[in-house]
Amino acid sequence: MSELKVYRTEDASLEPLAGKTIAILGYGIQGSAQAQNLRDSGLNVIVGGRPGKSSDAAKADGFYTHSFVDAAEKADIVCLMTPDPSHAEVYAQIRSALPGKTLVFAHGSSIHFGWIRPDAGIDVVLIAPSGSGRTVRESFLSQKGMVATFAVHQDASGRAKVTALALCKALGFLNAGVFESSFKDEAVCDLFGEQAVLCGGVPELVRYAYQTLVDKGYSKEMAYLGTLYELRSLADLYASAGLDGMLERVSEAARFGGLVAGPKTVGPETKVRMAAILDEIESGRFMQEFSQETKTGFACTRQMLEKEKTSDMSRTGERIRKRFTL
Ligand SMILES: NC(=O)c1ccc[n+]([C@@H]2O[C@H](COP(=O)([O-])OP(=O)(O)OC[C@H]3O[C@@H](n4cnc5c(N)ncnc54)[C@H](OP(=O)(O)O)[C@@H]3O)[C@@H](O)[C@H]2O)c1
Repeated sequence: MSELKVYRTEDASLEPLAGKTIAILGYGIQGSAQAQNLRDSGLNVIVGGRPGKSSDAAKADGFYTHSFVDAAEKADIVCLMTPDPSHAEVYAQIRSALPGKTLVFAHGSSIHFGWIRPDAGIDVVLIAPSGSGRTVRESFLSQKGMVATFAVHQDASGRAKVTALALCKALGFLNAGVFESSFKDEAVCDLFGEQAVLCGGVPELVRYAYQTLVDKGYSKEMAYLGTLYELRSLADLYASAGLDGMLERVSEAARFGGLVAGPKTVGPETKVRMAAILDEIESGRFMQEFSQETKTGFACTRQMLEKEKTSDMSRTGERIRKRFTL
């Protein structure tokens, strides 16, 4: 197996972006961070959006704002930063403005699941950060950068990769390192990681652990700190040192206890359930369900979130946050 090529600052130049206008369509969590990073790198950035909250925020941050269509017409590079289920609709509006330009995604689903089948004559690239918009901005300001992946779906100009790498540089990602992937790998791995671990599996483990302690009569505050709050320092270790490095850096009791109790907590049946989750994602069934959910105005999501907000654990967290500096 050949070694993965990791692109760093010296591997790209901003020259391919000189004199170009970049339109960020959608000024939300990711769009606002990327627009500001690109502008701070000296590039000409405009924002496209619907009238309202986000366009007002972009104006307040000093950007010229336009409709989606006007922004796409004025730009050479168009970055689609609205929520994924809206991509097909926004693409239909801007389609006639795109020939000869570069269309950029921050997540691979729209192309991988076929919601958008871009016309020939457009460069289509993916630049996917490995973190939220807030960390995209923070890591740019600290010059630490953030690991990201890029992919080329269509290369009409023969310069799609050079453009993608220049954008990665301007976004600050090359400071941390970037590698080439595919729309499919990014879409599937990103969704699976969110569901099985980051926003799904870990919170569920935490809920069970908290409730196990509270049911046995331990204080809610102690249970909260031990099962949730301490995740913060460990999460940093997971990322900077890996699971082995984390285990080397914790106490002897934590290392031994963790290694013995981990497989007792999560077993082979979890892998079977994870395979089912992966199948939902790969088959496109999850995205169909999500698309339905967006059409209802996120009715299920709001119900489930309300249940979480009113749970005993969330109430405990609220009390703790009011009384301590976390
Ligand atoms: N969130 C992250 O940190 C993150 C991380 C990696 C990749 N991504 C990717 O980045 C892209 C943007 O995600 P996001 O989380 O930044 O989205 P978001 O925060 O929900 O931002 C949405 C933006 O799009 C506009 N918008 C919402 N619904 C729309 C619709 N139906 N039609 C047109 N405009 C609409 C909103 O403006 P209004 O004020 O008009 O509603 C807002 O400006 C997605 O492809 C996502 O997968 C996000």
